[in-house]
Amino acid sequence: MFRVAIIGLGAVTRNIHLPAYSQLKDKVSVIAGCDVDSTTRTFMKRKWHLPEVYDNPQEMIEKTRPDIVSICTPPSLHHEQSLMALDSGCHVFCEKPLAESLYQADEIIKASERSGRLVVVNNQFPYMNIYRSSKALIGSPEFGRLLFLHAWQTFHPTEQTEASWRGKLQRRLCFEFGIHVFELIRFFFEDNPVKIFAHMPNPKSETPSEVVNIISVEFSDGRAASIVLDRLSKGPERYLDMRLDGEFASIYTSIGGEIRFEMGLHARERRPFLGFNFVKGGKAVLQNGNRSKIIARDGINPFASATAAHFKNYIEAIENGREPRGHARDNRNTLALALTAYDAAQANKAIEMAHYFKNSNG
Ligand SMILES: NC(=O)c1ccc[n+]([C@@H]2O[C@H](COP(=O)([O-])OP(=O)(O)OC[C@H]3O[C@@H](n4cnc5c(N)ncnc54)[C@H](O)[C@@H]3O)[C@@H](O)[C@H]2O)c1
Repeated sequence: MFRVAIIGLGAVTRNIHLPAYSQLKDKVSVIAGCDVDSTTRTFMKRKWHLPEVYDNPQEMIEKTRPDIVSICTPPSLHHEQSLMALDSGCHVFCEKPLAESLYQADEIIKASERSGRLVVVNNQFPYMNIYRSSKALIGSPEFGRLLFLHAWQTFHPTEQTEASWRGKLQRRLCFEFGIHVFELIRFFFEDNPVKIFAHMPNPKSETPSEVVNIISVEFSDGRAASIVLDRLSKGPERYLDMRLDGEFASIYTSIGGEIRFEMGLHARERRPFLGFNFVKGGKAVLQNGNRSKIIARDGINPFASATAAHFKNYIEAIENGREPRGHARDNRNTLALALTAYDAAQANKAIEMAHYFKNSNG
């Protein structure tokens, strides 16, 4: 049984980590939690039955001696708290983004190597059914090689979404959300891009961070990806849509519940169509012109089930002494993409990636 202690008992702990650990209750037991906010501590002890709660992470680790510390605090604390947990001899399961800079990420990697403890980052999207099934089709006779990927999000910020630390971030879209998209791009292309260009306008100038990200990604063999993250649009919200264009077909994926009744006419073929779609957490659809078939669906909380699969792989890797998907050295390359996008936007030119993939600690 792996004994897990959690630092930060906010939304991601309640909505993703605790539901994920409860799917693994034969192997994982949550022994304690820590939060600086006393109302949150009381709430988590009473309503979520956390066995012990602390206001100080170091004290929690010293008193409870967990095997794994899960770090679920705002990104600015991930570096300091990962180092502290590693120095105390614990493995670390850190929420994304791993750190605020590549230098900090490299310090975490070094501490992980020094202590012999495994750090894994919860960029869990590749474990969702819709992405696993899409990946399985790449290279098949039906789909062929993946040539181009386009990802887009339309999100309406509200007072609630901007409350607390998120509303204060200067680097917001690509750093906090886009990092999931970069992880998926690396997962699908099985390669690191060579060049990135980004434009991050803020036409309303009301927020400290950007509100639109337009990003273009190039691979050495001419394949490419583009990302549009849009927090200005008043159109329907789309949490994350993607289209993967292969040699012989395309795959469309979407996350987010929908119930849709469709009726219309395929103009070119003058053929009417009628459809009713009920998709809870997400779907992946194989498309060829107007022909399409659903290849995978996800349940109501794909974030938690993907985290459960990711965490299971992580603890098996600890048992077997191997490096699982999302370990810090690998995830550093995903962080490098997000950070380079900001550099490209600031410099207003395409940036070569090679330099960013080199470890800053030599
Ligand atoms: N992987 C995913 O799908 C996913 C989804 C949502 C959020 N996240 C990530 O999870 C992290 C937390 O996000 P959230 O939405 O839960 O934020 P949140 O604000 O809801 O929760 C953060 C909690 O940390 C506590 N905290 C702050 N400073 C602390 C300290 N020094 N010690 C202990 N506790 C402290 C706060 O009181 C708060 O309860 C972020 O890095 C975010 O990017 C990941």
